[in-house]
Amino acid sequence: MSAATSSTITVMRQHRSIRQFTEQTVSDEQRNAIMASAQAASSSSFLQASAVIRISDPNLRERVMALCGNQAYVGSAAEFWVFCADFHRHLQWVPEAKTGFAEQLLIGAIDTALMGQNALTAAESLGLGGVFIGAVRNQPHELCDLLRLPKGVIPLFGLCLGYPAQDPEPKPRLPSSLMFCENHYPSEFDARQMQDYDQQVQHYYRTRTGGNKEMSWTGQIGDTLAKEARPFMLDFLRQQGFCVR
Ligand SMILES: Cc1cc2nc3c(=O)[nH]c(=O)nc-3n(C[C@H](O)[C@H](O)[C@H](O)COP(=O)(O)O)c2cc1C
Repeated sequence: MSAATSSTITVMRQHRSIRQFTEQTVSDEQRNAIMASAQAASSSSFLQASAVIRISDPNLRERVMALCGNQAYVGSAAEFWVFCADFHRHLQWVPEAKTGFAEQLLIGAIDTALMGQNALTAAESLGLGGVFIGAVRNQPHELCDLLRLPKGVIPLFGLCLGYPAQDPEPKPRLPSSLMFCENHYPSEFDARQMQDYDQQVQHYYRTRTGGNKEMSWTGQIGDTLAKEARPFMLDFLRQQGFCVR
């Protein structure tokens, strides 16, 4: 193994979301190792502004799945965890703490995302697979009621984990030269590189779907960004005590 690679890097570079799982459960030891890895992530100002709710009750899982656009893998994965930004805990210990600032939303979201990625990487290193579920934000009021999330807590994303029952190819990423730059943001992008990447993504979808889907990356982002997603979000955040100042 050369100095520029490691088993961690290999696991990270082999990542692909898994949406079909076997029936096999995740052991307590594996779960504890994944949780400890998630908690080892860095934390802004050491605020540890996150809470993770494991949905182990099958009836509750069904209802959560319904709120997540009925994505089947939310129900079928061995594990489903809801990652939340959490400032409620801080207010329990320090009631005079000042919360509700927009910056704290970023802190909570960043801390929690770092935990989530650590959890998935740890799981993948154990031979498990998973997929993040942003759809936990589809009906956030209902999810808060269901999971009894108090003010100061918001669901950010879910994570399905389990043993893979599929083996998809990793999805091609943007050429690194389009994403990484040095000293200054680039004044323009190389159109040729974008076109090549579009073709690569089209080829990936064509191969993966047996010709049923042939979307380019620019086509995909055009569709996704054609309208406002979850237009209720600002009201929801404020109701939960985030972004009020
Ligand atoms: C925050 C977040 C939310 C996501 N939400 C969903 C989701 O609700 N359903 C889903 O099938 N995939 C979801 N994904 C997975 C992405 O579609 C996937 O990561 C992306 O297409 C890249 O594919 P890959 O993970 O296989 O490399 C989500 C990913 C992230 C990071």
